[in-house]
Amino acid sequence: MAADEAAADARCTIACRANGPLLVRGPFRLVDAEGRVVFAGTARALCRCGASRELPFCDGTHHVIGFRAD
Ligand code: FES
Repeated sequence: MAADEAAADARCTIACRANGPLLVRGPFRLVDAEGRVVFAGTARALCRCGASRELPFCDGTHHVIGFRAD
């Protein structure tokens, strides 16, 4: 299988962690509004509470603020 075919078959999943971040697993790139790649890799937690000091990534602040995603 060629590298391009392997990449096309790769799966990326996104799961919500209870009262926490979105967990992205699988090969993916995160691109900003200007088209710059801000992350390329296979696993990352994305902030869902909006309070991270490392947006768009989770830095654990959701625990400190008691974020609830009811
Ligand atoms: S979800 Fe973790 S800091 Fe926002």
